[in-house]
This record gives sequence, structure tokens and C-alpha cells, in this order.
Amino acid sequence: MAYKLGIIGTNWITKQFVQAAHESGQYVLKAVYSRHEDTGKQFAQPFNVDDVYTDLETFYNSGINVVYIASPNSVHFEQVKAAISHDIHVIVEKTAFSNPTEYAAILELLHDHPNVRLFEAARHIQQPNFKVIEQQVAQMEKISGATFVYEKYSSRFDDYLAGNEPNVLSRRFSAGALTDLGVYPIYAAIKLFGAPKQSRYFATPLRNGADGRGIAILRYDDFDVTIEFGKGSNSHLPSEILGRRDTLVIGDIAEVLDVTYYDNEGAAHRLSQEPLENPMIDEAVKFADMMTNPVDTAEAYQELLALSKTVNQVLFDLRQDAGIVFPADK
Ligand SMILES: NC(=O)c1ccc[n+]([C@@H]2O[C@H](COP(=O)([O-])OP(=O)(O)OC[C@H]3O[C@@H](n4cnc5c(N)ncnc54)[C@H](OP(=O)(O)O)[C@@H]3O)[C@@H](O)[C@H]2O)c1
Repeated sequence: MAYKLGIIGTNWITKQFVQAAHESGQYVLKAVYSRHEDTGKQFAQPFNVDDVYTDLETFYNSGINVVYIASPNSVHFEQVKAAISHDIHVIVEKTAFSNPTEYAAILELLHDHPNVRLFEAARHIQQPNFKVIEQQVAQMEKISGATFVYEKYSSRFDDYLAGNEPNVLSRRFSAGALTDLGVYPIYAAIKLFGAPKQSRYFATPLRNGADGRGIAILRYDDFDVTIEFGKGSNSHLPSEILGRRDTLVIGDIAEVLDVTYYDNEGAAHRLSQEPLENPMIDEAVKFADMMTNPVDTAEAYQELLALSKTVNQVLFDLRQDAGIVFPADK
């Protein structure tokens, strides 16, 4: 039986998720929430969906059993809280919550709604090529360090340069380079190496105090992971994980493309497969499995939730280090 899907946020990413969800065969879009009826109808129409809501309570009472939330980060908390209270499964876009205080409140609520599953949509770690990276890292004799780069000029940066404050570059929406792009390599690092024992963040602030780019360093027992990300320029550098003499090179840490292992002799072995055209299908399938088989997947689900919570804490620690405060922190 397919999950009855509701969506919040009507930007391109939601369309991509709905297409992935439909392609997975596990979900059917049933209801659309938008702040504006016209926008909601415009989104719903190509999917032949009539149920469009501008009231969150009515939306959550419409019979959906899973919601995908892709609103600005700062809005996630209240929308997720309401969904869990209605016993609706939640797939919330990264970054799920603004800070550990919000996360703790959500975990407490989940405790009272044990059948509800909460997923942070960090799509890249659900892709087969990420598994390939994990397997190769496990086989490497020694990790000496890693450098992850994810720096892409954002279409919204034009808006910023024109003197405006787009949501994605605004602290008001718990946004900026760290929570928008840095979260991908940070997720990757924590999934591969666990929680760092220390973290530093050297942020380059925009005129509004949000971070436009930055360099984060995650310190582990005997190596560091350096992470560079930004929204106002394009980097074409790959990411790499250094062994002793061997190296794992990842063409794109967020799309998880072009994974190549250079062995001790320097010979290259291409490990990656061609990813699916829609990068959200893998997560849609994984989340559906965890909702359908809660007992068999209990351990994997708890691990995923713990990972998401650790990422949230590290993002917060990094912001603290750089002195970046979100209104949601107060
Ligand atoms: N996984 C990925 O690859 C990926 C890619 C892009 C974004 N994301 C994540 O998706 C989320 C949305 O990002 P985005 O760039 O699409 O954000 P956005 O354009 O600022 O907003 C997304 C949607 O949220 C609603 N919205 C806008 N401003 C709002 C406000 N002030 N209060 C409440 N709702 C508001 C709008 O829908 P209505 O007008 O219909 O209400 C809008 O379409 C973020 O968490 C982001 O990190 C993930």
C-alpha cells in the first residue's frame, strides 16, 4: 500500500521529491500545503491533486500519513512538531532543526509518539555511491586526513548582490552557507568518521551577518577533516580522503559522483556507479522501508536519527565558534 504523501513548500526541490516518491512506487501525493492557495494549486495541478490547504491543521487532518517538509529551515520545527502530534511520519529537508534545543524537544515528542518515524532528508548518504565510499574507507589501513569541498554559486546570490536578503542567505531563516551546503560534507564526515572531538569554523560573513562561505575543521583523534563550502563562488576541486599512501577521491561530495580509489602504487580504480537520474529516489525508498518495517529496521533507524542529531550538534558548535547566532537560538 502506498503512503499518502502531503508536502509543505512548493519550490523545485519538492517537485523533485514528489517525482522521486512516485517513481519509487511507495508514495502517492494526496495533499499540498502552501501559504497561498494559488501557489498550492499551481504545484498540485500537474500531479492531478485537488487537495490544497493553506491551514496547517486542516492539512494534517486530511488523511495523509507522511509529510515531506521543504520550507525554510527556521520553519521546520513548528511544522514537524505539528506533524508528529498528528501521528504523521516526517521527512524533513536538511537542515532539520536550527539548534540542539529544538532537536531535544522533537525527540521528546517522538518519545510520546513511538510509531512516528522522523527522517532528515540528507539524500547523498542514502545513495549507493556513498556506501561504496564507506566500504572503501573501512578497508583503508589508515586515515591521515580528508578535505571535502562543496562550493557552488547560488542562483539566490544574484538576489543578495542586488541588495536583498534571500531566505537561504538569512540568519532569520536559520540559513547560510554552513546549513545550506556545508551540511552535506559535514554529514559525510560524521557518517564516515563519527562525531569529532573538536570543531572550528572560520566563516566569511555576508553584510547581514550570515555566512556566505567558510572553512570548517573537524578534529578527530589522529586526523583532521577540512571542509570548505560557499554559496557565492564555484569550486571545481574534488574531495579526498587520505590514507597512508592510498587516496580516495570523490568528484562531488554532495552528489556523490566519480569515486576513484588510488592504491598504494597510485593506480586508479573507479568505484562509483552511474547514479539514478533523480538523486532523491534512494532516500525515498529507504524511508518507506523504515516506515513499513519498523521492527526489522529499528536499529538502522535509530542510527540514522542519532546521526542527524550529531550533525545538528556539530552545526551548532561550528556556529558558536564563528559567533553566528540565529533568532531561533533565543
Ligand atoms: N536536498 C536537496 O537537494 C535540497 C535542495 C534545495 C533545498 N533543500 C532544502 O529545502 C528547504 C527549502 O529550501 P528552498 O531553497 O526551497 O527554500 P525557500 O525557497 O526559501 O522556501 C521553500 C518553500 O517554503 C515556503 N516558504 C517560503 N518562505 C516562507 C516563510 N517565510 N515561511 C513559511 N514558508 C515559507 C514556500 O512555499 P509556499 O509559498 O508554497 O508556502 C517556498 O516554496 C531547505 O531546508 C533547504 O535546505 C534541499
